[in-house]
Amino acid sequence: MPSSSSSILAKSTVPGRKPPRAVLFDAYGTLFDVYSVAQLAEELFPGHGQALSVLWRDKQIEYTRLVTTSNHGAHYQPFSVLTRAALIYAIKKLVVGPGATLPQDDFLLDHEPAIEMLLAQYQHLDAFPENLAVLQQLKRQGIPIGILSNGDAAMLQAAVHSAGFDGLLDHIISVDPIRKFKTHPDAYALGEQVTGLAARDILFVSCNAWDALGATWYGYTTLWVNRYQLPFEELGTQATRTGADLRAVLDFFS
Ligand code: LAC
Repeated sequence: MPSSSSSILAKSTVPGRKPPRAVLFDAYGTLFDVYSVAQLAEELFPGHGQALSVLWRDKQIEYTRLVTTSNHGAHYQPFSVLTRAALIYAIKKLVVGPGATLPQDDFLLDHEPAIEMLLAQYQHLDAFPENLAVLQQLKRQGIPIGILSNGDAAMLQAAVHSAGFDGLLDHIISVDPIRKFKTHPDAYALGEQVTGLAARDILFVSCNAWDALGATWYGYTTLWVNRYQLPFEELGTQATRTGADLRAVLDFFS
């Protein structure tokens, strides 16, 4: 498979820089397209599909930060639970509107089937088209690969299976056992603990700029996959490299 010409910064074949010894991928937004639920959302809530998929995602991430930083983690709930809560919020705000103050039981009575359908779809998100070939290529090159994700184990397993990634990943690392979400350093530390490698020797790959930044701050070698031509976070640190799609990972090993 041709390697990507999309990485913007210089190759890692610069003198003195060894290729990474493993690759860890973020899951949601990086391997799996969280916005692929927009179509079903549009069928269920005409006129709201796109906005609902965006607000659902934003609120989901906001909730991970809220429970990680508040009250020493006392309000932690697994990603699957926060994902459901975020979906309910998004439906209330965008679809129900001012009537969203009605009792939760009444709301669920009206919307439970749609909620369950969208959550079921979340177990089978589309993978981005080039991803399978990139994982297969890394595997052929003998490079250990894995996922380091906020997702809990069951939802990650379902998504991996649904995308046809079974047997390709050496590690599927969930933050759930430590009850702290990225960008908490304890979450990124799991990548070092599980692989037995130092963060600088691991390539961490994310399409989420905040995640690429958090991992860079932690000490990983990082690739930000900028699928949507967005600006990077304006906080004074850049990812090690930026690419347009997942094929940019292969440039680290060419
Ligand atoms: C993950 C989310 C945050 O997979 O994208 O960790």
